[in-house]
Amino acid sequence: MDGTEETTRDAGVPRLPEGVPTLTVAELEADPHGTFRTWRPRLPVIGHEVAGFVVLRAGDVDRLMRDSRAQATETLYPETRGIPEGRLFDIFAHGMLTANGAVHRRRRSPFTRTFAARMIEGLRPRIRAAAESLVRDWLPDGEVDLVARYTALIPAQTIADILGLPHDDIPRFTQLAYDVSRVLSFTFEPEDIPDLEAAAVALQDYVRAILDARRSAPRDDFLSRFLAEAGAAGDLTSDEVIVQLVQLIIGGTDTTRVAGALQAALLLQHPEQWAALRRDPGLIPAAVAESLRYEPSVGSAGRVAREAIDLDGTIVPAGSMIMLSTLSALRDEAAFRDPDTFDIRRDDLPRLHPIFGGGAHRCIGEALARVELEEGLGALTRLAPGLRLTGGMPVLHGHSGIRRIGPLHVAT
Ligand code: HEM
Repeated sequence: MDGTEETTRDAGVPRLPEGVPTLTVAELEADPHGTFRTWRPRLPVIGHEVAGFVVLRAGDVDRLMRDSRAQATETLYPETRGIPEGRLFDIFAHGMLTANGAVHRRRRSPFTRTFAARMIEGLRPRIRAAAESLVRDWLPDGEVDLVARYTALIPAQTIADILGLPHDDIPRFTQLAYDVSRVLSFTFEPEDIPDLEAAAVALQDYVRAILDARRSAPRDDFLSRFLAEAGAAGDLTSDEVIVQLVQLIIGGTDTTRVAGALQAALLLQHPEQWAALRRDPGLIPAAVAESLRYEPSVGSAGRVAREAIDLDGTIVPAGSMIMLSTLSALRDEAAFRDPDTFDIRRDDLPRLHPIFGGGAHRCIGEALARVELEEGLGALTRLAPGLRLTGGMPVLHGHSGIRRIGPLHVAT
């Protein structure tokens, strides 16, 4: 960590600027908030042993989300992580998340109407009823893992309903989604790649089988309408159709499962704020927003510098991979008062919550995630007001991508 060491050419970073340290994955995993808190006042970026540069400050993260010099990574990321081909690679090669310009617009636009806030608001009563029914299911059991019995199921059932996937398939497609999404974290080793690839194959085969079934027997659901429209327009290749649906399944299940668990855990850890929510349900949207800030389920967004980028005098060279750290930005003392204090009454969160990114790639599922998180929390405060943590905060891994969570043990 002398600030001048060479990083691998594979990571797309020829040489770190002088004085910028390279942190190891182990250091970042051990205490991401603490590590970022140490470096953020000193430097706008730090080196990452695998992922190039980590951008730390809220203003820079926000600007670079929209800056055309910082582009989506296309297939650079899997290539640098030892995945040069295959079905895992295809998720990057054919998906909207990693695409730029016109290709990105073509892949994203067929889905924007379905996930628009106005359409999603219409689902709120159904999501509320589903959340309440889930709480009533486990309430008599006394002690449960809230992740398995609740926070995973709300988004899984909802995305199944939107896309027209059978509820009986939930255990299968959610497990595959969680397995595949691990590729976006730094918690996998080269020897794990065959398992990730197997999960990517199985998830794509599952989606392909559902699509084939809809083609031969259309229903009145999103997939049938989508196939009719996409088929008529001929806009997406069949691989692209499958990969966009895979990205919606991953985005639609894993991120919100983790966020739902973290918000419940944080509120139960702060009993006076839990009590305030019970008294005043009007605080629920703010509690959701503050939980997403304080302990975000998505730690970063990946980009590549197409030109050299100057951040307060530190030059990120052209060709470098960049990790825009939402995890760091959301605790930036320059943007938030007492950033390490969890406070559902804070008034300094911007209207567009930074956790959902910015620019062309801003999360397509934001409205859905908010409704699921708000209704999930609302049902808990109404039907399980005496809920308490029995095992402390859930174990959380990951400083980037979709973070990973262990069980959340609660008692009613
Ligand atoms: C708390 C929950 C969620 C968080 C924190 C979150 C966060 C994000 C972020 C930060 C991005 C931008 C990534 C980038 O710029 O590289 C993104 C994109 C995306 N999200 Fe979400 N997300 C959440 C829920 C959802 C849901 C429910 C869906 C399902 C509909 C979804 C689907 C997607 C997709 C498909 C993209 C790619 C959009 C594009 O590239 O144009 N997300 N999300």
